[in-house]
Amino acid sequence: MIGKISKLRDVAVAKIKEAGSSAEVEELRVKLLGKKGELTEMLKDLKNMAIEERKQFGQEANALKNELSEIIEAKFKELSANDVKKSLSSGSNFDISLPGTHYKLGSLHPVTIVQKEIEKIFTGMGFNIVDGPEVEEEFYNFEALNIPKHHPARDMQDTYWLENGSLLRTHTSPCQVRAMQKYGAPLKVIAPGRCFRNESTDASHENTFFQLEGMMIDKNVSIANLIYVMKLLLSEVFQRDVKIRLRPGFFPFVEPGFELDLNCMICGGKGCPTCKHSGWIELLPCGMVHPNVLRYGGIDPEEYTGFAFGLGLTRLAMMKYGISDIRVLNSGDLRAMEQFSVR
Ligand code: DAH
Repeated sequence: MIGKISKLRDVAVAKIKEAGSSAEVEELRVKLLGKKGELTEMLKDLKNMAIEERKQFGQEANALKNELSEIIEAKFKELSANDVKKSLSSGSNFDISLPGTHYKLGSLHPVTIVQKEIEKIFTGMGFNIVDGPEVEEEFYNFEALNIPKHHPARDMQDTYWLENGSLLRTHTSPCQVRAMQKYGAPLKVIAPGRCFRNESTDASHENTFFQLEGMMIDKNVSIANLIYVMKLLLSEVFQRDVKIRLRPGFFPFVEPGFELDLNCMICGGKGCPTCKHSGWIELLPCGMVHPNVLRYGGIDPEEYTGFAFGLGLTRLAMMKYGISDIRVLNSGDLRAMEQFSVR
């Protein structure tokens, strides 16, 4: 057996010395030391050997492995030094010694980072991620959410209408009805996405922003389930206890409806332009899905109940990263965006 090793050594060393290109050396490396290489194959015989022989053979084989690795490494270096010399003396104007082009790696947008975190939390609880169109039908954006034509609740969302009668969705809530129609009950979905409103911009308002809609429908889903999931969501995102308040809120598509506000993390609740000097940020409006909305989704409200929420993703990113002005997020200013990068 030991004889086998020294024979392999002699042949291998000679071949490596003779090799004339890096490709040849690489081929030899795989042939000798790779997963199915000659030395590796030999080591498989170890299990059939007597203890003493196994010990000696193992040591010799390992020593050879180290020796060959070193010789191969040295050969690679030698060949690449030759390449440089050749390129310099060949008269070609390709200067191999010049530094390469530095390509800058991009980074994720803070909203994307937060979105991914939340997707992870919810998929961990068995929710599916769904999508909906940014150019939405009036039916899904309003009617099916229990906001009939001429209802004053439509005024809460100043809408961009298109000439063909469609609109730029004002929230991600239309995804609720689309998901119910497509998948039926029971249902556990989240729908992150871009929304649009005809807003005058200031520190906390933009005409383009992100929300993340969530919906859970099953038999006997209650407000307790809703509050549990909301609390879990916030503690996972912020990795600490956060101060919140829950108060009644009106949204035509839920009954009862709540506003879940987060103590402003920019000013610590003292009041600043970001929280409109109130000390609180409206972050997580939510409630129990209105029976009419379940019906529009094709689900029987006598049999099923559910909760829904519409998380302000952009606002959450601002709170998490201490960004005091929402306009920074759409500015495309890389100096700002790169600070939050996780690649
Ligand atoms: N779509 C609402 C908005 O943008 C937010 C909302 C409130 C969504 C309550 C919900 C909900 O799912 O239950 O103002």
